[in-house]
Amino acid sequence: MGEVMHALNVPAAGAQPQLSELPVPEVTAGSVLVRVKAAGLNAIDNALAGGMMAGTMPHEYPLVLGRDAAGIVEAVGAGVDHVGVGDEVVGHVLLAPPVHAGTLAEHALLPATAVTAKPSGLDFVTAAAVPLAGAAALASVDAVDPQPGRTVLVVGAGGGVGSYVVQLLAGRGATVVATGRAEDTDRLSQLGADTVIDYTTGPVADQVLARYPDGVDGLIDLVAHGPDGLPLSAVRRGGKVASTLGAADGDVLAAAGLTGSNIMAKPVREVVAPLIEQAANGTLAVSVSTVLPLDRAADGLAALAGGKAHGKIVVKVGD
Ligand SMILES: NC(=O)c1ccc[n+]([C@@H]2O[C@H](COP(=O)([O-])OP(=O)(O)OC[C@H]3O[C@@H](n4cnc5c(N)ncnc54)[C@H](OP(=O)(O)O)[C@@H]3O)[C@@H](O)[C@H]2O)c1
Repeated sequence: MGEVMHALNVPAAGAQPQLSELPVPEVTAGSVLVRVKAAGLNAIDNALAGGMMAGTMPHEYPLVLGRDAAGIVEAVGAGVDHVGVGDEVVGHVLLAPPVHAGTLAEHALLPATAVTAKPSGLDFVTAAAVPLAGAAALASVDAVDPQPGRTVLVVGAGGGVGSYVVQLLAGRGATVVATGRAEDTDRLSQLGADTVIDYTTGPVADQVLARYPDGVDGLIDLVAHGPDGLPLSAVRRGGKVASTLGAADGDVLAAAGLTGSNIMAKPVREVVAPLIEQAANGTLAVSVSTVLPLDRAADGLAALAGGKAHGKIVVKVGD
């Protein structure tokens, strides 16, 4: 066996994630081998750990968890010329068959199409919190295409994706109505929310209609798993709906006089580079709530699964 690394991995289908030694991946054409400095956690990590996508895509075990990473390039494969050895980068392991490589490890193999240079002024932990959540936020905002002055309701605004959605909407001149617990109100207002609705005190749609009797122009829902969970009565006829969880059912929306789409984030270089630039120049705030060492990454995934993130959880790898 060649070089080994510590990695949080699922050793076999159905097994619990474990931190153990695995071979360092070998760089292949079109990929970039990175010494990981930080890896951002996302809900999909728990979904993949639980085998929830095993029916849709082949999985190869041991399966390393984690998709987002920031680190230093150690090797580049044939055909890669936009980054070189020693560069500081941020990237994402795109979802592609077989599901096998991950970033919760000392080294990670990333597809070059999803690797972008990291500005030196942006630290590794902050950069690692951007790719998937940022790309999902951008796709959601593009899907509702808010015109300046229009009102958009964001359900799940306090989380990793939502914190970016609120800022991107505000940046486009939309009036932002965000859901969040009382303790998140100040943070969401600072990010650009005009109104914060405490979803724990009563139905979101009723609270929105009490303040916006004509309904909002758009809805970005980051929480509902099906159309029944969407607060559609709060959206005026002709409004647009975007869901990150496949809840935007065309027939249900049409019956309410709405249109919408289910978004799929694409954290490729062209999408992530501008977000990273914004994070670096301070126009996109990155809310990292927790930083953990690699040997506590599983605790971070458990906190995320329990809905206790309040921003992004990032695992710092090494010193
Ligand atoms: N389609 C894609 O490409 C894509 C990409 C990225 C993410 N996603 C999905 O999008 C969802 C959000 O991702 P995330 O990373 O932002 O997750 P997250 O960080 O866990 O955030 C979820 C947020 O929703 C809030 N919430 C929970 N139940 C709620 C309710 N009933 N009403 C209002 N808010 C509620 C939570 O608030 P509390 O803190 O108060 O519990 C939390 O702030 C996840 O399910 C993820 O799988 C999809």
